[in-house]
Amino acid sequence: MPDLMGEGEAVLKLSFFEKKNSILISCAKELPAYVKLELSRLGYPAGAETLASVETKGTLSDAMSLNLRLRTAGHVLYKISEFTAADPNGLYREIGKIKWEEVLSPDEFLSVDCSVQNASVNDSSFVNRKAKDAIVDRMVTKLGRRPDSGPEKKGAVIYVYWVDTLCRVYLDSSGESLQKRGYRKMPFMAPLQETLAAAIVLATRWDCRGNFINPMCGSGTIAIEAALMALNRAPGLLRGNFGFMHVKGFPQEAWRELRSRTRAESAKAFPGRIIATDIDRRAIEASYRNAKTAGVDHLIEFGVGDFRKTPVPTGDGVIVMNPEYGERMGEKKRLEDVYRGIGDFFKQKGEGYTGYVFTGNPDLAKKVGLKTSRKIKFFNSSIECRLLEYELYKGSRKIVKDTESPTQC
Ligand SMILES: C[S@@+](CC[C@H](N)C(=O)[O-])C[C@H]1O[C@@H](n2cnc3c(N)ncnc32)[C@H](O)[C@@H]1O
Repeated sequence: MPDLMGEGEAVLKLSFFEKKNSILISCAKELPAYVKLELSRLGYPAGAETLASVETKGTLSDAMSLNLRLRTAGHVLYKISEFTAADPNGLYREIGKIKWEEVLSPDEFLSVDCSVQNASVNDSSFVNRKAKDAIVDRMVTKLGRRPDSGPEKKGAVIYVYWVDTLCRVYLDSSGESLQKRGYRKMPFMAPLQETLAAAIVLATRWDCRGNFINPMCGSGTIAIEAALMALNRAPGLLRGNFGFMHVKGFPQEAWRELRSRTRAESAKAFPGRIIATDIDRRAIEASYRNAKTAGVDHLIEFGVGDFRKTPVPTGDGVIVMNPEYGERMGEKKRLEDVYRGIGDFFKQKGEGYTGYVFTGNPDLAKKVGLKTSRKIKFFNSSIECRLLEYELYKGSRKIVKDTESPTQC
């Protein structure tokens, strides 16, 4: 049982900014493998894994670092309590035993989020309210004051995971989802989530040294994530707000130092070229502004034009394409031509490269007409997608096992 739930009213000795506990990293479906890869590169253990989360261990200070560095995670959840509760009243009682007056300030905004599968409730917003009432009622009793609360994740965020009778209470140290990096001021059409785009780049096993070619770049999310990786720039450096900043005892000075240490680790340049093109000028304008906000505009060469005209420099690297895949009425023929054209483009211009097509439409994917060497499953929101890999080099090359990853990035 953590200190917070200790008997009596003993003062918490160790702030959880220094206290090691279980940390749950939540992410989109099919991304745990990439979260694990990132955790191991950062030197954190990867424990139990579900369809959309990976467990690790650390202090809330570790959580600060993970928020800064993880590219494929949604939320970094630091566990503060675990108990059993049969119904909402039991939940209220148990949450009310946590010493919230040592965790939260009445001056910070509070929001509560939850994931619930309990026979006694069918409305998660009711559980949010019940948990929030337990927290603020305790604070009123102990401090005479309570924080303002609401759904916006702009302050301290508590996350309640309640399945059957098991309940885990977490500090959501991220607050807003980490997919919101802060660079995409100009979304164009339906952009990929930043975390998914980062996972796609990791899945290509690009070594951050060769070229990265991204025709049909839309808002530029894939190219921008690749550039951030090439520079070893932590994605969280772009964000000004995280949930942990609103927790009592937030070590502001340590956070400033961590940020400047992390910033100092990034490189100024990389040896390859990143090229992003799109047929729509507005997409390239949006991509450029997004890249500028992300601080990587100097690294990406943008161009307007049909994907078939995208320059592919001699050398090696990856070509990643995310064509449209929703077939509106009358669009089938046009999209079939696009996918067929991608196959021709790969054959004619891609020698030395590995080609990738990210799509949610298997019928259209067949029109590429080349043999796939890997098909990697992802979800784009609820749509099941595949990242299809095509080896475009001539002759033979060492087969890399699925679990291997580049050492350079
Ligand atoms: C699904 S979107 C890409 C979204 C992108 N991955 C992102 O995260 O923003 C497909 C893009 O392909 C572009 N496109 C469609 N046909 C094209 C063509 N023939 N040549 C180049 N780009 C094209 C569209 O303008 C659109 O921006």
